[in-house]
Amino acid sequence: MDCSFAYYSRGRQLSRYCEITSSRNSWPFPISMKAALFALAPIVLSFGFQHKTPAPPKPTAPAYKSVQAIFTKNCISCHSGDHPKAAIDLTSYAVVMEGGEDQPIIKKGAPKHSLLIQALRGADNVRRMPPRMSPLAEKDIMLIENWIKAGAKP
Ligand code: HEC
Repeated sequence: MDCSFAYYSRGRQLSRYCEITSSRNSWPFPISMKAALFALAPIVLSFGFQHKTPAPPKPTAPAYKSVQAIFTKNCISCHSGDHPKAAIDLTSYAVVMEGGEDQPIIKKGAPKHSLLIQALRGADNVRRMPPRMSPLAEKDIMLIENWIKAGAKP
């Protein structure tokens, strides 16, 4: 608003308003700050949206190395050598992915359908592993499950 005539045209109150606002407001342009923000908003926003918001980082998949460490500690006493039990060798990624004689023990992406997890969790018709010992710690089973879920990569 043009304050120079305020006193004359609208009287005392408006002139006080002008004094206060003009002393506080050092906006130098001939349109109000609100109008300027309003006009600029779409431009600023469109810049913001040009950069696609990055997807939240996926929880990192467990490395095979930590899976192998679990097998080495708990399983290879029986699942290694010339005649591993159930023909399942658990000493390296390559042989683990080969699985048993007639079926794989890992279904990439599907822990529940992987014989390995069924054995660790004691599913129906599957010998729970390791036999006659307490089951693996839940966190170890989950680590292997997450590794399978993430694609069972080497
Ligand atoms: C004390 C020896 C021993 C240990 C330790 C052992 N296993 Fe076994 N595992 C066996 C035997 C014996 C079989 C065959 C069981 C059968 O066919 O009834 C077997 C079978 C399996 C099978 C196939 C199960 C099925 O029903 O077809 C899987 C999978 C397996 N073991 C995984 C593991 C894993 C993983 C570990 C470590 C956490 C492990 N085993 C530790 C002796 C062992």
